[in-house]
Order: sequence, then structure tokens, then C-alpha cells
Amino acid sequence: MPLKSTPQRYGAVAIAIHWITALALLGLLVSGFRAAGMEDDVAKAAILRIHTATGVAVLLLTLARILWWVAVDRKPPHVAGQPRWQEIASSAVHGLLYLAILLMAGSGIAMMALSGAGDIVWGGAPGPLPDFTRFAPRTGHGIGAFVLILLMLAHVAAALYHQFVLRDRLLARMGLGRS
Ligand code: HEM
Repeated sequence: MPLKSTPQRYGAVAIAIHWITALALLGLLVSGFRAAGMEDDVAKAAILRIHTATGVAVLLLTLARILWWVAVDRKPPHVAGQPRWQEIASSAVHGLLYLAILLMAGSGIAMMALSGAGDIVWGGAPGPLPDFTRFAPRTGHGIGAFVLILLMLAHVAAALYHQFVLRDRLLARMGLGRS
């Protein structure tokens, strides 16, 4: 499979970043909600170690993906024959997904920096962990998580609609199945 995209399908680099990010986001949502609901600080710090490392990795992957699109590769055009409003909705959801990821990562890093929790989560300093809700970025992180879930649901629903209702094999463009 070529590294760069063609008019028919995404290239290997875009496909790899897409599926790694999708899996990582699921892990981030599960670990984030789990951590937020925990009382035991030792277990919570262990989960936050994984959560924060994965979050920073997703941030770096997303920045690499933006650079890849801007400087190297070109996205395949919209699927032919769909109404204009669906093209606009698809581009809007894709753009908002990027934005939501950047905001989640930014608010997460700001939350750690302002609260000083990095020393406990990463530096081995004794707890207790701070109450993150006392720091403003925590509000953005909570709302952003909800918005991200809505965007991911819309994105997956649209892909499944193409694949199973329109039967246009859209998923093959992202490396799943025969085109
Ligand atoms: C980039 C994608 C990220 C996603 C999708 C994500 C997702 C989440 C979710 C769903 C929660 C629970 C929110 C709630 O209960 O309302 C959460 C909590 C948290 N996240 Fe993230 N996160 C991301 C990145 C980060 C990063 C980069 C950091 C820090 C470096 C971070 C630090 C935290 C912390 C400290 C909490 C716990 C807050 C608490 O206990 O109240 N997150 N995250």
C-alpha cells in the first residue's frame, strides 16, 4: 500500500494514524472517566500515568497528522454522488474531531501543570492527589469529553451508513475490506 493517499483511498500513513488514534481515544475515554470517579489515590495515580502518557501521544500523533496533510499528502476527495450537505457535514465533523482532540490534550496538560499533580503522578511524590475540579481547565476537559463522544458517534454512524445502507464500501478507503 502506498504511503501517500490516492484519489480512491487513504495512504498507509493516514490509515495507521487514524486507527491508532481511534483505539487510543477509546482508551482515554474509559481511563479518564474511571480516574475521575476513583477514591483511592494510589490506583488513580496509576491510571492517570497511562491516561496522561496516552493523551500526550495522541496530541503528538494529531500534530503529525496535521503536518502530514499540510506538507506532504492530499486527502481523497468526497465520495462521488452524495448531497452537498453531507459533504459539508463530513468536513465539519472531521475538523471538529481534530479541534476536540487538541482541546482535550491542551486542557489535560493545563490541568496537570496548574494542579502540580505531575509530581505525584510521574515523580513518585506522596499524595494526596489534588481535587482537579478546583482548576478551570477541568471544566473544559469534562465538556470536551462529552462533545468528543458525540462527534465520534456521528463519525462512526456516518461510516456505517455508507458501508451498510449505501453499500459503497467506504471503509475500504480507510483500509478495512476490499474496495
Ligand atoms: C487527548 C485526549 C484526551 C481525552 C479524550 C481525555 C479524556 C478524559 C476523560 C473522558 C476524563 C473524565 C472526564 C469527566 O469525568 O468529566 C478525563 C480526566 C482526566 N484527564 Fe484526560 N483526556 C485526554 C488527554 C489528557 C491529557 C493530555 C492529560 C494530561 C497530561 C489528561 C489529564 C486528565 C486528568 C488529570 C483527569 C482526571 C480529572 C479528575 O480526576 O477529575 N487528559 N480525561
